Amino acid sequence: MRLKNKVALLTGAAAAIEGELMGFGGATAHLFVREGAKVVLTDIRDELGERAASALRDLGADVLYRHLDVTSETDWRQAIDDTLDAYGRLDILFNNAGVSFPAKVEELTEEIWDRELAVHAKGAFLGTKVAIPAMRRSGGGSIINTSSVMGIVGSPTSPAYSAAKGAIRLFSKTAALQYAKENIRVNSIHPGYATTPLTAERFSPPKVNKALLDRTPMGRLGTAEDIANGVLFLASDESSWMTGAELVIDGGMTAQ
Ligand SMILES: NC(=O)c1ccc[n+]([C@@H]2O[C@H](COP(=O)([O-])OP(=O)(O)OC[C@H]3O[C@@H](n4cnc5c(N)ncnc54)[C@H](O)[C@@H]3O)[C@@H](O)[C@H]2O)c1
Repeated sequence: MRLKNKVALLTGAAAAIEGELMGFGGATAHLFVREGAKVVLTDIRDELGERAASALRDLGADVLYRHLDVTSETDWRQAIDDTLDAYGRLDILFNNAGVSFPAKVEELTEEIWDRELAVHAKGAFLGTKVAIPAMRRSGGGSIINTSSVMGIVGSPTSPAYSAAKGAIRLFSKTAALQYAKENIRVNSIHPGYATTPLTAERFSPPKVNKALLDRTPMGRLGTAEDIANGVLFLASDESSWMTGAELVIDGGMTAQ
């Protein structure tokens, strides 16, 4: 019970149904409830999110689903208020929502650029901003922002995605500095290539799959569970002296 008595809000976490392909948010939700947390799942895919929350409740977990478009401060305020109304505190925020629109720089539209920056960078900023007062009242907290290996090295396919993930990396360090004294920790995770609902189709053609495996020294793609284990560590008190750090989970990709 590594998260006993803790309350967690997860974004982009609708793909959380056992037996179906889960995203990082979904796999993390399952680990969190197993470790004793109360969990608020959020996403913009409301029908899937409601079904996922209901399936988790059927397993005995204390889970709610709320609509939360991470680019909307109004949605953020409502979701955090609902969390405090239901559970009285907020200890963990997993900023995980994401989109991906590969394009070469010349073909990249302003709309795609703005969307990538809005969902990733602005989403992590707004969530951190709105969670901080709630965490302060709970005596501290842990914010985990989902960057990527593409926030550390350049992406061969997705310039706006890489720029947005790079922004998350340094935003996390800056927020970590500003709130360290209040025991509000902010860390980033940097997953490598992993099979999830966001990537399954794009990663499946044999040529693409081989190229990804060639770049991954451990010789397999990641799973949502590989990433969720790292998120659990950053969420738990086991990482209580870590803030502003980068947790890379990538099968060795960025060691090259
Ligand atoms: N899968 C990978 O290889 C990989 C690698 C590195 C980083 N990531 C990042 O991990 C995170 C989770 O992705 P995943 O691969 O688990 O896929 P996923 O599809 O399970 O998760 C992304 C979720 O974000 C939601 N979302 C999109 N726009 C949103 C918005 N405006 N507001 C709220 N939710 C929104 C989607 O509905 C979806 O449920 C993303 O930030 C992604 O960029 C993924």
